[in-house]
Amino acid sequence: MFREGDSIAIREWPGQEWVVENVLVGGMGIVYICHERSSVGLGKMALKALRPDHVSLLGAKERFQQEAEDWINLGEHVNIVSAKFMVEVSHEPYIVLEYVEGGTLRTRMYAKPPMGLQKAVEFSLQICSAMQYAHSKPLTGGRKGLLHRDIKPENILIRSSDGCVKVTDFGLSRAVEGSSSVGQAGGTFQYMSPEQITAPVTVDRRSDVYSFGVTLYEMITGSVPYPELAVLGSKQPLPLNPTVPQDIASIILKCIQRDRNNRFPDFLQIKTSLENIQHFSSPQINGFKPPALNYPRNYVFVGEKEVARYVSVVIHKMRSFPEVIIRARGNQIGRAERVGNELRSRGMQLQFRRGFDNIEGREVSFIEIRARRSRLKPRRGSIKRKGTKWIGSIARTIRRLT
Ligand SMILES: Nc1ncnc2c1ncn2[C@@H]1O[C@H](COP(=O)(O)OP(=O)(O)OP(=O)(O)O)[C@@H](O)[C@H]1O
Ligand SMILES: [Mg+2]
Repeated sequence: MFREGDSIAIREWPGQEWVVENVLVGGMGIVYICHERSSVGLGKMALKALRPDHVSLLGAKERFQQEAEDWINLGEHVNIVSAKFMVEVSHEPYIVLEYVEGGTLRTRMYAKPPMGLQKAVEFSLQICSAMQYAHSKPLTGGRKGLLHRDIKPENILIRSSDGCVKVTDFGLSRAVEGSSSVGQAGGTFQYMSPEQITAPVTVDRRSDVYSFGVTLYEMITGSVPYPELAVLGSKQPLPLNPTVPQDIASIILKCIQRDRNNRFPDFLQIKTSLENIQHFSSPQINGFKPPALNYPRNYVFVGEKEVARYVSVVIHKMRSFPEVIIRARGNQIGRAERVGNELRSRGMQLQFRRGFDNIEGREVSFIEIRARRSRLKPRRGSIKRKGTKWIGSIARTIRRLT
């Protein structure tokens, strides 16, 4: 793992060095934002590798490499983060990605003021273009179309200069499929179609349609339709806010049908339906009042109160969530760091992420600190080995819901 300021030597180009400007840790990957020490014209780039704790998973490295090759072969599309080529660094594969200056859709969704329906539709149309292109692109070996498998707000980047939407991480989630820590860290279940949870080998385009539907649902309501693994049960999705116009609500509900035969078969059809709304009922959209978006419940937003106060809130929330995210902006960042240091001294595991929120066209720096208990405390009678507890808990949830 590299740190800010480190130089990365590239095996394929002896003498070339890339300097790390920023380190961003995700659910299964790690992203290094880099620039060249002496320029050969690549400019700024994002280098993506498997997280060090996932490299050792059986076959993860090979799958990561295969999926990255497919992503590279997708070629250029304005709404897809371009994967340029792979390099080897300290015997590990890294993908060189187009750098996108901006933030994720997740950050945009929870920024103030809330995004509004018009923006949500505008972003969705761009995601549809990206997915329609990827799903129909001929690939090596006579295969047609690449599935994404992990559409969620974290994997959609928004360029701050012009609001261009770029979908990222095509196929990569496959590298760590079935690994316990992914569900825990990313909470990705909420975006996964029921068939992807229960029978991942059978998924097709319609699974991406489902994940997209959940993402759009969250863009306009601030929450996901099925908490945790509830999609495997038979309850109806959480209701959409009644102010959501009927035509858009029905598009979303068609995307998130449990039975994939009832979903849109492809992204072209979603795009056409959304465009029809844009053209024919824009007054409705303009009149839409979005519900107030709050941070998810495992977030603690650091403000002006004293450090000890936030420390105790985090410790309290730890009882209900496997991971608590401490967030601060601007001049509260230092205070959030002190909260982090205090928690680390109490044995918590921390990951830091920094970036910018775009608030009414202004860039404001933020910090997000993911805090986790460093040891999973086995409950009496539960399986003690670290990692298996999660699998046990899914099995219990599935049993409860089905
Ligand atoms: N091409 C890029 N340009 C600029 N920033 C990027 C790029 N790719 C990723 N990032 C940043 O790096 C962060 C981490 O990305 P990463 O994909 O590793 O994490 P994630 O999407 O949260 O989880 P997962 O590993 O499940 O995909 C993102 O939140 C984003 O802010
Ligand atoms: Mg990602």
